[in-house]
Formats: sequence, structure tokens, C-alpha cells
Amino acid sequence: MNIVETVNFIKEKYQKTPKVGLILGSGLGVLADEIEDPIKVPYQDIPHFPVSTVSGHAGQLVFGHLNGKQVVAMQGRFHFYEGYSMKEVTYPVRVMKELGVEVLIVTNAAGGVNTEFQAGDLMLITDHINQMGTNPLIGSHDEGQGVRFPDMSEAYSKKLMSIAMDVAEKHQLKLQQGVYVGNTGPCYETPAEVRMIRTLGGDAVGMSTVPEVIVARHANIKVLGISCISNMAAGILPQPLSHDEVIETTEKVKANFLQLVKATVENI
Ligand code: HPA
Repeated sequence: MNIVETVNFIKEKYQKTPKVGLILGSGLGVLADEIEDPIKVPYQDIPHFPVSTVSGHAGQLVFGHLNGKQVVAMQGRFHFYEGYSMKEVTYPVRVMKELGVEVLIVTNAAGGVNTEFQAGDLMLITDHINQMGTNPLIGSHDEGQGVRFPDMSEAYSKKLMSIAMDVAEKHQLKLQQGVYVGNTGPCYETPAEVRMIRTLGGDAVGMSTVPEVIVARHANIKVLGISCISNMAAGILPQPLSHDEVIETTEKVKANFLQLVKATVENI
């Protein structure tokens, strides 16, 4: 089976068991640079890992210690809008499960839909809405991977949320909370779509995370989600949106983001 070959390859490079997996969103990959004694495995070297559609480096897995915990970080993720299938987007989560990961921390850059938010805020994801029009679990069912109809009533672990909230309070970090809406992208939303998302109960919108969280829950991995509100979603402020703005803002909140995630990992 593919996954066995993938895992065997990785285990040759790294023998310890990572308990915490991290998926690092746009502009947030710097967190992997904080990992001590890192072992870096480029995606392109890993058998059966999705093949990058663009030339250059697609990213890498970084194994090592972070604040006293064995972790594996995905520095760079696979997005549905890049043309990867839902199975490809979520394959690394299946691999993490086989490697022994029990807690997954998903991070992303997202547009703020809740008008109380401002660019630069960090948001604890309390729940999500899948607006991607598909689901990574569609297809033939393998009982060994999880149940056919997984419960999603606590997609984001209350216990992990409370740890993150305690950390934020202790370190005096502003931490918003809200519902993340996953769209396919790659275009940003229209102002009308943003109003719809607000009406539906969304606080932030992005183009990732939902597939990985669905598969993590299917695999019985506990999830913590953190969004970096990189911009206010379309139509809320007068200016147009740009990817440069997204990267610029994540750059500014980097220090707070690192502090929040590292101290949370320590307390898991
Ligand atoms: N919309 C969707 N995805 C995003 C946004 C946004 O405004 N900002 C960062 N990722």
C-alpha cells in the first residue's frame, strides 16, 4: 500500500514518534524554523506524496523538538485550488496518523468576515463550514481509516481551545474566536459572498484547512485551529485585496503567532 511505503521512507529518516503535527499556512512557515535538531524531508523525495505542480520547492516535512514536544511540521501545504484532489490535499494527514500524531494544529491566513475583527488579529477556530462543494471522505470506504459517517460535533477540541485561550491570556495575546468558512478559491470572495458568509455564521474565510480537519477527525486526531486574519474580507473596507497584503500582515503578526503556538504546544 502507498501509505506503508511513504511511512517506511520517513521512518528511515526519523525514528522518533511525533505526537503533534503542525500544518503551517501562507506566511506562517517560519514556525518550522523554531524546531530544534530539525530533520527536513522535502516533499519531492517522499514516495507517493503529491507532486508539485509548480517548479521549485513545494515544501517539506520538518521533524524535531518544539518546546519539549516531538513534532512534525508541514512547511507548505497542498491546496485544492492548485488542482490537487481532495485525497492528495489530505494525504499528509493520513501519513501523520500512521506516524503516531495525536494532535494536529492547523494554521492559515484568512479574511476577516466578522466586522469586530481587524487585520493582524489571531483567531481560534471554534468550528468550520465546508463550502468547498466536496468532501475528502467521498469515495470507497476503508474501515481501517475511520468510520463511514464521522461525527463532527467537536471538530475542534474544546480542551485544546481552552489550553490556547489560557496561553493567550497568560502572554497577553489578543485571541479572537470564530467560525472558519472554507472556500475553494483561488479568487477572493465578492462582497456579496462575504455578506452571505456572515449571514451563514462565518467569522473568517479562507481556502484551506477544512479538508485536513475532516480527515484528521476521521482518523481520530484531535484538532486545534488558528487563523491569522491577514485582511478584512472583500467589501468590508474600501481597498481591493491582494496576496501581498496577506503576506505582509502575516509577517507583522509572526511574533505573536509563534508565541501562541509554541506555548500551546508546550502545554498540550
Ligand atoms: N478570502 C479567502 N482566503 C483568504 C483571504 C480572504 O479574504 N485572506 C487570506 N486568505
